[in-house]
Amino acid sequence: MSNNKVADEINRRRTFAIISHPDAGKTTLTEKFLLYGGAINQAGSVKGKATSKHAVSDWMEIEKQRGISVTSSVLQFNYEDCCINILDTPGHQDFSEDTYRTLMAADSAVMVIDASKGVEAQTKKLFKVCTMRHIPIFTFINKMDRDAMDTFDLLSDIEGNLGIETCPMNWPLGSGKNFKGIYDRQEDRIVTFADTMKGTKEGTETFISLDDQKMIDQYVGTEAFETLKSEIELLDGAGAQFDIDAVRAGKLTPVFFGSALQNFGVEIFLHHFLQMATPPVGRMSGEDIIDPVDHNFTAFVFKIQANMNKAHRDRVAFMRICSGRYDANMEVKHVQSGRVMRLSQPQQLMADERKILSEAYAGDIMGVFDPGMFSIGDTVCMPKDDVKYEGIPTFAPEHFARVRQVDTMKRKQFVKGITQIAQEGAIQIFQEYNMGLEEIIVGVVGVLQFDVLKFRLDTEYNVEIYLDMLPYEYIRWVDTPDVDMAKLVGTSDMKKIKDMNDRPLLLFVNEWSVGMTVERNKGLVLSEFRKN
Ligand code: G4P
Repeated sequence: MSNNKVADEINRRRTFAIISHPDAGKTTLTEKFLLYGGAINQAGSVKGKATSKHAVSDWMEIEKQRGISVTSSVLQFNYEDCCINILDTPGHQDFSEDTYRTLMAADSAVMVIDASKGVEAQTKKLFKVCTMRHIPIFTFINKMDRDAMDTFDLLSDIEGNLGIETCPMNWPLGSGKNFKGIYDRQEDRIVTFADTMKGTKEGTETFISLDDQKMIDQYVGTEAFETLKSEIELLDGAGAQFDIDAVRAGKLTPVFFGSALQNFGVEIFLHHFLQMATPPVGRMSGEDIIDPVDHNFTAFVFKIQANMNKAHRDRVAFMRICSGRYDANMEVKHVQSGRVMRLSQPQQLMADERKILSEAYAGDIMGVFDPGMFSIGDTVCMPKDDVKYEGIPTFAPEHFARVRQVDTMKRKQFVKGITQIAQEGAIQIFQEYNMGLEEIIVGVVGVLQFDVLKFRLDTEYNVEIYLDMLPYEYIRWVDTPDVDMAKLVGTSDMKKIKDMNDRPLLLFVNEWSVGMTVERNKGLVLSEFRKN
């Protein structure tokens, strides 16, 4: 295959994740993207939504289905000249550290915000991870067909809460019952919204030039038009200028308005987003930047999913290809073990379908059967190459519990099971600062992982446990070199712990205590994630 063909394929890749708070409209927006890409024929076919929302545990469903949950999937489709990979970031109950890890594999993010609510808790958390990587973030303010917050207030909410500048690419005319459409700032025209097609639940769009008074009178009305004019004047005077470099550096977010449910503003968003988002960019391996096009095949593992079936204890390692082209006949090297091998049944997982891949390019994601060799953050490259990508950080868990065994005689299985599950990255385990493994504290990002831990210890290791919930919600790694933990003074609710590599950490009940502790200990450096 010619190098040009490989370069073309890579340059048309757009790999992104959608970040949002549950119910902001991520699933609905994804579905509309898929409709435009021709990947599905009718709305309502994005599978897994019902499962992830209503089932006690989506994860437990996996066992039943003997397959992979939709939450592990990547949706790939073509639109305009681009090949789009949407990485699913599980929300709702199945929110977990994997949700964060997935963001390590994305080149950009789409942030969906509910227009009546502004920035919500989960968006904030996911946003933090995106900014850590300086990836571009594109904002879609959804549900404009419902009563929305004032538009300027929405923008200041984003800027104030997330610390990123905003640049509205279009501007809404009203909201809710009075939603008339959007003003497209680039095209200098109004795109009207009419919720008249009740049966199809889709709006109709009419394009109106600003000097077409007759059409404006008919579709927009004098009052709404006057409001728009004064708002635009204000915006032109005070708003941030569009700057593509600032967008690509993750410092400025282009903002679009619309209604995913009514399919209004979605195509305009998708079109501009694809123009502005970058194809895969280089990643660091030591001091070198590995160029996605010029370099041979490389990939890194960003997530591992245990398959839970007792008869087939297989696991799937999800890899993001960072450079070059993958060919099914190729031998590759697992850098951490030095082993050269063929990847076993590399596949792309789309909804509940699995497609065996014969080739894939930088930007693509593939799932590989893992005989227990891969760990999160591992690199795979060509046998003669020497590439090692930076590991994936460990993110701060937010729920903690002390684990006790029902049958203390099964100590060995218990320790083996819990350490293995922790190694897979589903949970994190800690010990009391002055003790060994006799007291184990488990930390998770999403509470569902507690159920997962219980279930897996029981089914895979035959160990029953009790979980005593702890009140802590904040964990911080102590990054001060040579810190004397015994001398560290914190608040009364603070707890000193250590991870399995004896690295010191602190647990807090609230954010105030974190601040107090830093204040009380000169030079103390605490961090919210740990670089691996
Ligand atoms: P999520 O994936 O971010 O959790 O959100 P999802 O798309 O599932 O949307 C959450 C709810 O908001 C759904 O309603 C959905 O129909 C609705 N919604 C999404 N986009 C819009 C929009 O632009 N306008 C309005 N008015 N509603 C929107 P639901 O009643 O919870 O589910 P369903 O019964 O409609 O499936």
